[in-house]
Amino acid sequence: MRVSDPSRLVVSPDDTCDIRVVVTDSECDKYPAKQHARRVATKLGARDGLIYLVGKPTLDWGDSDQPRPFRQRRYFYYISGVDEADCYVTYDVRNDLLTLYVPNFDLQHAIWMGPTLTVDEARKRYDIDRVRYYDALQGDLATWVDRYNKDSPIYILHPTQKPRIASEDFRVDFDSLLPAMNAAREVKDEYEIRMIRQANKISDLAHRRILENIHCMSNEAEIEGLFLDTCVSHGAKNQSYEIIAGSGPNAAVLHYVKNDEPIKGRQLVCLDAGAEWNCYASDVTRTIPLGQDWPSAYAKDIYTVVEEMQEECIRRVKQGVRFRYLHELAHVVAIKGLQRLGILKDGSVEEIRRSGASSIFFPHGLGHHVGLEVHDVSALPITASNGHQKREFVPQLSTPLLQEGMVITIEPGLYFNELALKNAQTLWLAKYINFEKAEQYIPIGGVRIEDDLLVTSTGYENLTTAPKGEEMLKILRRETN
Ligand code: GLY
Ligand code: MN
Repeated sequence: MRVSDPSRLVVSPDDTCDIRVVVTDSECDKYPAKQHARRVATKLGARDGLIYLVGKPTLDWGDSDQPRPFRQRRYFYYISGVDEADCYVTYDVRNDLLTLYVPNFDLQHAIWMGPTLTVDEARKRYDIDRVRYYDALQGDLATWVDRYNKDSPIYILHPTQKPRIASEDFRVDFDSLLPAMNAAREVKDEYEIRMIRQANKISDLAHRRILENIHCMSNEAEIEGLFLDTCVSHGAKNQSYEIIAGSGPNAAVLHYVKNDEPIKGRQLVCLDAGAEWNCYASDVTRTIPLGQDWPSAYAKDIYTVVEEMQEECIRRVKQGVRFRYLHELAHVVAIKGLQRLGILKDGSVEEIRRSGASSIFFPHGLGHHVGLEVHDVSALPITASNGHQKREFVPQLSTPLLQEGMVITIEPGLYFNELALKNAQTLWLAKYINFEKAEQYIPIGGVRIEDDLLVTSTGYENLTTAPKGEEMLKILRRETN
């Protein structure tokens, strides 16, 4: 129904109205701290008790008067949504009461660094029932202990985080909270997915700018600089992890972060970099040819195999699938590809997989959870063992299944690391590797392609939109506007 003059609208008793309220005020879009606190209590299986979490304190570097950059403790953030230093939070399970403690007012701090949060500001900003100054913490804890501690414990993450309370003999439980929080955090809610999607959007912009400008660059440092510039300028001050911009053989060093070598004469650069948004990570790797096209058949061939590893795994992502199975599948695709190129030899796919020879080229896991940490926590490790390092493949039926709402990476890679190849020559699996052939690939370093996937009941949503494959090549060739 469309009405040009609302004042002339006559509503009869038979009319139905569809009223939608669109709320744009950010106060109504708070971090769902209370929902998270309840979720942790459910995972704890507790009907009472007090969850007590310590936020990150302000810390200086050793032997220096300079503060370390602040990074909130992720467990604390999960049930508070507070990205400020020197705070505490408690959740009284029985009374469903979430309380935040903010630092007392400090005039010197206010003059030098700006004022810390007041209780009124915090009450407005966060999804918290009660906000108090730090001064009230010990008294509140003592009152709670008097009333409830006989029957129910204070849950803490680590023995070092035991609260200071006047009475010495209070009951704490430091075994249950960590696994309960890990289990709570492994499936993301709608708010968290929005944050990871936004982090990916900014990573997309930054990866695109690299593709558009790499032809003018002469050193890995410029890649890091432009990536960082783009993220910070778009409001993402923090990276989810240190930027990896490895050209040539540096691409074969999995966590290469020096990023200071000239790129002239090198074939590929492996750029593993992801912005963080409101404490949520993105994790994106692209391997970029240096030039307008593939610099060699070697580079193109390895990229093609890794692309196939990723595509074969991604299309199988769905609730109920065992991630470990995808990891093993990636090895199978890698083995077939490396056999085609003559790098693996003298065995069936199964024999080679059992030998562990493909792990010389693909030495890391296929992926991990992404969330408040780039390698996010979960009830069980997603691949459930360092299986890729085992010689023998043993199907592990106890490894976890993908669930709707998990966000995971699919990040296959193939690397030609000189030291790894040299060491492999001493192992019994050496008989499956054509070292002469493999060494020809050392100059390309390696290829990794990594996307972040939201698992759904019917499949997945790829949250990573940074260009790869043909779309990437088009930008490098400047065929797009
Ligand atoms: N992107 C870094 C890592 O997954 O280890
Ligand atoms: Mn990763």
